[in-house]
Amino acid sequence: MKPINVGLLGIGTVGGGTFSVLARNGEEIARRAGRPIQVSVVADRNLERTRRLTKDSCRVTDDAFAVVSDPDVDIVVELIGGDSVAKELVLQAIANGKHVVTANKALLAKHGNEIFAAAQKKGVMVAFEAAVAGGIPIIKALREGLTANRIEWIAGIINGTTNFILSEMRDKGLSFDVVLKEAQRLGYAEADPTFDVEGVDAAHKLSIMSAIAFGNSMSFDQAHIEGISQLDAADIRYAEQLGYRIKLLGITKRTSEGVELRVHPTLIPTRRLIANVEGAMNAVLVKGDAVGPTLYYGKGAGAEPTASAVIADLVDVTRMHTADPEHRVPHLAFQPDAMVDLPI
Ligand code: HSE
Repeated sequence: MKPINVGLLGIGTVGGGTFSVLARNGEEIARRAGRPIQVSVVADRNLERTRRLTKDSCRVTDDAFAVVSDPDVDIVVELIGGDSVAKELVLQAIANGKHVVTANKALLAKHGNEIFAAAQKKGVMVAFEAAVAGGIPIIKALREGLTANRIEWIAGIINGTTNFILSEMRDKGLSFDVVLKEAQRLGYAEADPTFDVEGVDAAHKLSIMSAIAFGNSMSFDQAHIEGISQLDAADIRYAEQLGYRIKLLGITKRTSEGVELRVHPTLIPTRRLIANVEGAMNAVLVKGDAVGPTLYYGKGAGAEPTASAVIADLVDVTRMHTADPEHRVPHLAFQPDAMVDLPI
């Protein structure tokens, strides 16, 4: 069957992982998607690295704008990050009738309302499983598995870098700076690691989950955000002596005033499951009125875990793209008309 053509924008850690997983599991993925998924073009500023990573299996270019208007590209995968050029590229891709898969939480948290409205108008999908909690399928869980529920609250460790830093500081008595460098080396940290350590990355992800769970618009600007840079080894030690572990939690819940969003270091009794989530792992607790509390755990960062989520979206979009238009259920597309603005 004719492959679906993907234009990949940015081949850093996650782009490289996407290539490896598609190469390794391509046949099985094609069976599940109903047709082969083929990266036909990659745009990246570093052409030499791109040629090396793609092993001449596709076209390469340093012009991302050419990819979003390429008539042969069906799906654009945006892995550039940031919220300026990426926003322009995504909006142009949508305007050109391309479906979009993105891992860009900053982009969605800040401009999601505009992007989803444009996608809905054009009848294309914007899928973003990889934007929240890496390899954990939390977007699908919220949107599909828990769809019967009225979500009451979500609380999660949704930044691997800070969880890794807190774990290593506690276990090995290492300093904050040393552990941050290691997290960067392992590919967990954002390009600007202050987004990780100051809680901004977690707040981006929290805004996305909150919008899905509560049907409000993206409310990143209204989140209370506090990171871990003020913590030192003594705080972690004292907490431990009192029977608590310090975790950077993102919490969103319904209140009588609307929806609350906050990210801050939290003391959690060590007997709780979430207190024992260590290293760059993520864990998200979701409480639904019917199901009760549920817990999702897995790798929240890194090449292949995040690629796993990118490819899950590619499979979903491929199935939808291939379906008879009359029977398409745009379940992945965010529904801006279901949004209401709620005070925080
Ligand atoms: N910097 C992020 C983290 C990467 O540490 O969780 C995944 O979003």
